[in-house]
Amino acid sequence: MCGIIGYVGHNLCIPKIIHGLENLEYRGYDSAGIAYVLNNKTKIIKEKGKISNLKKLLDFDTTTNLGIAHTRWATHGEANKINAHPHSLGKFTIVHNGIIENYSKLKQELENNGYVFKSETDTEVACALLDEIYKQEKDILKALNKVTKIFRGSYAFGIICSDDPNAIYALRCTSPLIVANSPDGNFIASDVPAILKYTNKYILLDDFDIAKLTKDNIIIYDEFLHETKKKVNTFSGTFESAAKNGYEHFMLKEIHEQDKVFKDTINFYFDGTIESLKKNFSFLKKYNKIDIVACGSAYHTGLVGKSLIENYVNIPVNVEVASEYRYKRCFYDYNTLVILVSQSGETADTLAALRKAKNDGITTMAIVNVVGSSIAREADHVIYIKAGCEIAVATTKAYLAQLAIFSLLTIYLGYQNKTISENELNIILDDLKKMPKLINDTIKNNSYFDIADKIYKNKQIFFIGRGIDYAISMEGSLKLKEISYINSVAYQAGELKHGTISLITKNTPVIAIATDTKLIEKTISNIKETKARGAYVIYVSNEEPSEKFYDELIKIHKVHPILQSILTIVPLQLLAYKVAKNNGCDIDQPRNLAKSVTVE
Ligand code: F6R
Repeated sequence: MCGIIGYVGHNLCIPKIIHGLENLEYRGYDSAGIAYVLNNKTKIIKEKGKISNLKKLLDFDTTTNLGIAHTRWATHGEANKINAHPHSLGKFTIVHNGIIENYSKLKQELENNGYVFKSETDTEVACALLDEIYKQEKDILKALNKVTKIFRGSYAFGIICSDDPNAIYALRCTSPLIVANSPDGNFIASDVPAILKYTNKYILLDDFDIAKLTKDNIIIYDEFLHETKKKVNTFSGTFESAAKNGYEHFMLKEIHEQDKVFKDTINFYFDGTIESLKKNFSFLKKYNKIDIVACGSAYHTGLVGKSLIENYVNIPVNVEVASEYRYKRCFYDYNTLVILVSQSGETADTLAALRKAKNDGITTMAIVNVVGSSIAREADHVIYIKAGCEIAVATTKAYLAQLAIFSLLTIYLGYQNKTISENELNIILDDLKKMPKLINDTIKNNSYFDIADKIYKNKQIFFIGRGIDYAISMEGSLKLKEISYINSVAYQAGELKHGTISLITKNTPVIAIATDTKLIEKTISNIKETKARGAYVIYVSNEEPSEKFYDELIKIHKVHPILQSILTIVPLQLLAYKVAKNNGCDIDQPRNLAKSVTVE
């Protein structure tokens, strides 16, 4: 949530910072701002809206070689110019990701001590507190260290102090922050894409570390203010992987990458032999009760995972939204495994759920995309998906890769538990080999766009399904509403008639998903109930229907049920994409959303 970049080096900083900021815009786009040092004075320029608005106010030739910048997803106060970062009070200018939870109390105390605030943000309070403590300590590092004892919440700060105009300071707690050295100079950033043009080597700061960057040096201090050496990580993606490569939107590009992402994810853990699965997943064998905890789309993959594991491994799985899980009573036993699913690995609620389980002595396993992210580092076991850099706010390829992992875990555990026979295993593995091509074929079918052209003007669109198809409906519905702003709800097909069917009128689109052979007939009955009320039915199935009860048919390949959802989701992603496009929506950066949700 929100993007931070800072640069100090021998070159002009504004072009580098803006380039980096643009690669972070998916993290927040309510407003953007920059602070740079010119002739030892800090100048701040900020503007509401996207980075393009800020760029119009900047002179890229300004002879400054030090600056920090921010692209914001508003947490405290309206998304306007005053609340935009950087904020400055006294001697400190700050860009900030995260939330300082005790800022109201601190603000009152600081106001009593004479500080006057212009914005509604917690960040301006951070500037003032830092300034006040610095007046006492007369030492920037000590002041930074001391505020960490006072702030509650999460923060990643990029900081300029007017008493040390040749340095950028960085400090973090919970919100991620990296520092990187490159031949072009030194950087801080909230995420790797910001700096990838200059280097793929970076250091991830730990909580309460303080980094001091000058044009020739990066020094990192631990929480006791001792200089410390950190591991240098290498980002395995390329700068190109963070670019659109000719696609109109990142979302479309990422949908088209899904065959490769599937292949990369599966091949990383499975070389065609059960031994390879054993090697990677044998630690899972002893658990006979699973809680899957996640948010949004990752929660939806958990629902698919539950259906697969319960049906094919025969062990109970409880799936919970992380923001609820962390405050509820959990009925763990010695053999409970908690699985956290997160693309970013930084989602605050999922991280808190992980910590809760660990505090209770429960083994945790994370399914994560971003290498070295907080959830990946803190979980007892990590399974990385191989989705690469996902830029579009609406997840597609990471979601599909998470499904691939649940399929693989189900295959392994089912085979171990003998709930999947040798014979069935061979059928599944046969289909598994075909999947990349089938995913690709499903993406290439362009009939979905024609269907989208017929429904995009509707004010509401329903999704229905039963069992695993309901789980997929939920993801289809989320994809559609988050990028097209069309009201959409997913219902268990059998539940519709208990109230919601009253909303179905002539031509209301109902997207009905039916791939589970034993439930198809039942779902068809529910579809007919909506059809009888005038619904415009889009039927998504892997079986050719023998009668025509629908208006549009999306026929997908039939594969083993353990793999089926991976194909079913693809048309729904493309439908959502085209509906949003027809409505002129900002597909990669939908309003009010940000890619990684590091606030609770
Ligand atoms: C929807 C979407 C979100 C995320 C959710 C969790 O398209 O992307 O619902 O799935 O915010 O994010 P991660 O997976 O990073 O924990």
